Amino acid sequence: MKKLLKVKPLQHLHDEANDDEKGLKRTLTATNLISLGIGAIIGTGIFVLTGTAAAIHAGPAIVLAFILSGVGCALAGLCYAEFASMIPISGSAYAYSYATLGEFVAWIIGWDLVLEYLFGASTVAVGWSGYFISILKDFGIYLPPEYTASTGTKLINVPNEGWQTLTTVLTERLSSTHVDINGLQTVTALFNLPAVLIIGLLTTLLVIGIKESANFNNIIVLVKLVVIIAFIIFGFSYISSANWVPFIPERIIDVNGHGHYGWFGIVSAAGVIFFAYIGFDAVSTLAQEAKNPQKDMPTGILGSLVICTVLYILVALVMTGIVNYKELNVPAPIALAIDKTGAALAWLRFPVKLGAIAGLSSVILVMLMGQPRIFFSMAKDGLLPEVFSRVHPKFKTPYITTILTGVVAAFFAGILPINILGELVSIGTLMAFVIVCIGIIALRRSKPELHRPFKTPWVPFVPILGALICFLQMLGLPADTWLRLIIWMLIGFVIYYFYGMKHSKVRKL
Ligand code: ALA
Repeated sequence: MKKLLKVKPLQHLHDEANDDEKGLKRTLTATNLISLGIGAIIGTGIFVLTGTAAAIHAGPAIVLAFILSGVGCALAGLCYAEFASMIPISGSAYAYSYATLGEFVAWIIGWDLVLEYLFGASTVAVGWSGYFISILKDFGIYLPPEYTASTGTKLINVPNEGWQTLTTVLTERLSSTHVDINGLQTVTALFNLPAVLIIGLLTTLLVIGIKESANFNNIIVLVKLVVIIAFIIFGFSYISSANWVPFIPERIIDVNGHGHYGWFGIVSAAGVIFFAYIGFDAVSTLAQEAKNPQKDMPTGILGSLVICTVLYILVALVMTGIVNYKELNVPAPIALAIDKTGAALAWLRFPVKLGAIAGLSSVILVMLMGQPRIFFSMAKDGLLPEVFSRVHPKFKTPYITTILTGVVAAFFAGILPINILGELVSIGTLMAFVIVCIGIIALRRSKPELHRPFKTPWVPFVPILGALICFLQMLGLPADTWLRLIIWMLIGFVIYYFYGMKHSKVRKL
């Protein structure tokens, strides 16, 4: 037990930080932090999952789901910031928990972060693929349908609309019967080729060693914001308020026994679109580089969250106002909404899709870059084999873990549908947040003497409420997703038991 709770001495973290020549210059202002946050946050969540979550879970009340999830993130974010500010290096929740909560919790969080980053990259890549296929179609280029969706997806050739997934067509049929699927041509997809290719391309860039510069990030953030704001402003006048009635559709149970809509549907939708907020935790890990952490961290975290929450709510209102929610279960819902406005907004189609593709690429890049760093730290601590910390002699990049991350992420992006991937990422990240919230309360008691440049306000109220809202969102996710999380954690425990426990360097200190 004592060993499981063994913490990594702070001196080691200091030494490692010096080794890496990270040079913790306090250069980031509140505005920089907000921009970095928005860069990591806006992605597949808003561009893709909003549509499916509205169609399947919440209807127009997806708006309430965004509020619930945003509040949970803000509270958890404040706890995250305290955690990050206590440890005098920049790093991940894995590193912070190792120094404060002990090895076992650190392993759980580290293993959980694989869900956030590696599977997160797969999820965003599938979202990317949807917009990419859609833009190709606009140019009259059609990929063979077998290579455009996850393995086993049934696709139907709908007259005038082209290939669509069976679930899209069926959800649509709940509200309208204009599509008769009998007698239409069908195929079963083999794998999602564009999703695999984008991960392959970005992984190659990362192995060779590109650095995402602050300027590049700022441009992408600007593109994403312009595209989203343009959609809100120009789409506004095409809203038909009839589409918002009923705002909270009555709960129904489908033929497979799955529930949809109603109040519980809002909680489920919150669990799904929580994905849209993932990334703000990246801001909290920059606590040591903030000029004035006590003031700038909450501004950075809450600022980026508030901006995104407001934008998300507006996008959701416009989207569900233009298109009936039941038709939104598509790979590129914002593009569909623009199409529904007819010729008037046709000019917006291309910029929106291009903006989405650029924005999603940068999110995939951040995730593919984050994962090897976590593997790298875990390997240095002896919890994963040494090869994971090998650096390429010429490119100076952690190439083995980068390639491993890329191959595994591409594999899952190719074979799994976006909802399974996104829900798995959400549940894993939510669990990490719950642990962080509880950890803050525990640490205030066990180590009150630690210097905390940033303190979470109103402890224990904020951490308790944060943990509860995050847990509620976990409860909203389907049983299958829970099962996948449990299997994932069990695999983690087996690796820890047979490898990590024996090779841990911290235990030998
Ligand atoms: N929040 C990021 C996205 O939605 C991960 O793509």
